[in-house]
Amino acid sequence: MAKKKVVILDGNDTGCAAGSTVLSQVIQSASADVQYFRLRDHNLAHCTGCFKCWIETPGICAAHDDVCRDILHAMMQSDMTVLYTPITFGGCSSVLKVVIDRFLPLLMPYFMNKKGETRHVPRYTRFPKLVGIGVRQQGNPYEDSAFKALIGRIAENFHAPSFSVEVFDGNEERLTLIKKVYEVINRSDSVPDSDTLAGLFPGVDPDFSTTTLNIGNALLLVGSPKVQNNSNSALLGGYVLDTMRLAGWNTTMLKPDRSVLQEEGRAALCAAVDRADVVIVAFPLYIDTLPYLVVKAMEVIAEHKRKSSGKRPQRLFALANNGYPEFHHSIVALANCRCFADRCGMYWAGGLATGAGEMIGRKHKNGNGQHPEGPVRKVFEALEDAGETLARGNTVQYETQRRFTRTPIPFMPFVLWRRMFRTAGNKCWDTQAEQNGVTKEEMYAAPYGV
Ligand SMILES: Cc1cc2nc3c(=O)[nH]c(=O)nc-3n(C[C@H](O)[C@H](O)[C@H](O)COP(=O)(O)O)c2cc1C
Repeated sequence: MAKKKVVILDGNDTGCAAGSTVLSQVIQSASADVQYFRLRDHNLAHCTGCFKCWIETPGICAAHDDVCRDILHAMMQSDMTVLYTPITFGGCSSVLKVVIDRFLPLLMPYFMNKKGETRHVPRYTRFPKLVGIGVRQQGNPYEDSAFKALIGRIAENFHAPSFSVEVFDGNEERLTLIKKVYEVINRSDSVPDSDTLAGLFPGVDPDFSTTTLNIGNALLLVGSPKVQNNSNSALLGGYVLDTMRLAGWNTTMLKPDRSVLQEEGRAALCAAVDRADVVIVAFPLYIDTLPYLVVKAMEVIAEHKRKSSGKRPQRLFALANNGYPEFHHSIVALANCRCFADRCGMYWAGGLATGAGEMIGRKHKNGNGQHPEGPVRKVFEALEDAGETLARGNTVQYETQRRFTRTPIPFMPFVLWRRMFRTAGNKCWDTQAEQNGVTKEEMYAAPYGV
């Protein structure tokens, strides 16, 4: 009988390799062919959200590095791919996330309906089982739940035939580890649906109010890695920031880039965060959670906060936008932001998420401080409301989320609007590919086999 093929993506960010060694030994002893990638050894390019892997060179990332190509090729040949990571704010480490973001070419741009949710059509006919193993840094049930939900959502996004996920303690006995690894690789868990995600939505303390501070410094961290400065995140976050500026706050915008990998860039980021009374993180959803550069920036900030003394009270507000029409895909990412706030000793000021981010970005035409006319007007009214609330020293309540995600076409039921969105979205991808001289047949290229 042919041996099972297993790929291990080791997202461990330190030299402590006990867990990953056990993992590969156990899997090898289960008579499998193991391909092991120690990701921290590679300086991988990150996804910049250019979508060229869909509309210019279908199936292949524009970054063209051999390591990532080897990883995707190995994954698509495998029966099981294992994501191994220290649990980082209830998600994956940046070391692993840089690779996960680059899974995007494994999907087609086209939208489809899967179990009542929007998903992308698979590019390949067969995907591996996905197994997530997270190593707990400090015991925290909310972080564990967010991590488990994240792995399930990634598995569903990538049409894995099954998935399983387990959380380990960093200091577990070798024998316990072996037993747990055996169990998890042989198990099949159920996929978290929108109801499970709703339970993870990070709520706020409704009575919170900073009466001592009505004017201060607000910092917007723009989490989109798009190279041109035209991201939906900058647009949406900019709205909240502008509202605070009009209320008298000093406002600054910063877009974390690869400079956070260097000492100088890290220092600048941490200094900007230290000056802020309110930090707003506005980001696009990348493979069910925060993009690589945001995770990296958060790791840097959390490490800085851990070492610093005499912390002043700060609030964190998160603003997510995702490509699918349903906003609930972003709930895990908001939970990740909440975990980050807790780690840094920042007060959680609430989070908002919207779907159809690209559509909202395109429909927005004004540059004159007025709300855009038409269906997306409500979105910008809700953002203004969030900005005013933060400027007053309060937290943003779930009621604002409800207004933020209303069906953009008045009185149209969500299911109908979603169908229209998918049809229009699919046409839009075709048009863009055509403009690049890519034929319909070429769109379906499957460079990694099967
Ligand atoms: C690598 C990558 C992964 C993405 N993953 C998701 C996803 O898991 N779910 C989703 O709804 N949208 C996903 N999107 C779509 C983006 O969230 C969407 O295009 C967003 O509006 C981009 O915002 P920005 O302009 O601020 O970068 C992904 C986009 C990219 C490039």
